[in-house]
Amino acid sequence: MKKITDSVYSVGAVDWDRRLFDSLIPLPDGTTYNAYLVHGSEKTALLDTVDLAFADMFLASLEEVSRIDYVISHHAEQDHSGAIPLVLSRFPEAKIVVTAKAKGLLMDLMRLPEDAFIVVADGDSISLGEKTLTFIHTPWVHWPETMVSYLVEDKILFSCDFFGSHIASSDLFVTDQCRVHEAAKRYFAEIMLPFRIIIAKNMDKLADYDIHMIAPSHGQIYDQPGWIMDSYAEWVSALPKNLVALPFVSMHGSTRRMVDHLGSALSKRDVGVELFNLAVTDIGKLAMSLVDAGSIVLGAPTVLAGPHPLAAHAAFLANALRPKARFLSIIGSYGWGGKTVEILAGMIPNLKVEVLEPVLCKGLPKKDTLAALDGLADSIATKHRESGFGI
Ligand code: FEO
Repeated sequence: MKKITDSVYSVGAVDWDRRLFDSLIPLPDGTTYNAYLVHGSEKTALLDTVDLAFADMFLASLEEVSRIDYVISHHAEQDHSGAIPLVLSRFPEAKIVVTAKAKGLLMDLMRLPEDAFIVVADGDSISLGEKTLTFIHTPWVHWPETMVSYLVEDKILFSCDFFGSHIASSDLFVTDQCRVHEAAKRYFAEIMLPFRIIIAKNMDKLADYDIHMIAPSHGQIYDQPGWIMDSYAEWVSALPKNLVALPFVSMHGSTRRMVDHLGSALSKRDVGVELFNLAVTDIGKLAMSLVDAGSIVLGAPTVLAGPHPLAAHAAFLANALRPKARFLSIIGSYGWGGKTVEILAGMIPNLKVEVLEPVLCKGLPKKDTLAALDGLADSIATKHRESGFGI
């Protein structure tokens, strides 16, 4: 247990080893499952719990706590709710405070009884005696049921996944802003990018509160929260950057030559470009690029009459993340035929993009292919300029 203020304590767990979340999302720096205790003069609230794997350690950290009146469950996902049943066994007087949607989810996920819950509406408050928690519904950070809470007297926002970052650290507060910025952006890209319009509305709601500290449920606490709120405002903004995300895969080097030529051609035209070799890339890095990119170009060789499966995986990911890119193209090499472009085009119905003429070549790229790639670079540079994409 670590003291944050006279009435607020951190009681979470550090998971130094975890390298994958949801069996999908890379966690190069591990993570934390933050939980907080807030003591009022009359009542005590526990804000979230930890992943079940850390429940024993978590309960041990609560050993000196004599009573918990409320368990505030901001988000039903198991990395935060996993220890709720054990907490209730230990503190049977506690009620779980949730949104209506979270109640349903927790009953399904944790088999908790209906009478264990207190449902709060958007803007409701609970008094702990000289301390007040106000609940703000913030859907889709990261599931539809999510809310945050604001400790009125201390001006602390407990934000759960919102503003979170997957970094295992023994430091309670942000010490390396650059590192946390990258981790928070990766986190935003992987789970919140598809919902950025709703998240922008959630940001607007937070503007009504005087926030001196943000205590998320992953990563370190922001004792100077201005910069992370500014970063979120940029990430949710509608206007992408003058940047091309170029995920690709190559089997024998032909598509790679095309990718390198296009990358160089874009750079000569002052268009930023980020290459991601899907055979080796950290998919989280690609997701981060998709937060900013004005265009996506997918480099996909043809294999077994269709796109290489790694390119199909990238197309599926981009479709799921619904990035703000406005233009898209496909480049790649083939041996004797296939339907690579048609199959990939059918995999991205969620992307609201103008499709620029694909560039395909048989075998190694020749002069006409390189000229077509120069033409694609010209088109992208012109489109970005006309669209007002910034740096
Ligand atoms: Fe950290 Fe969506 O759970």
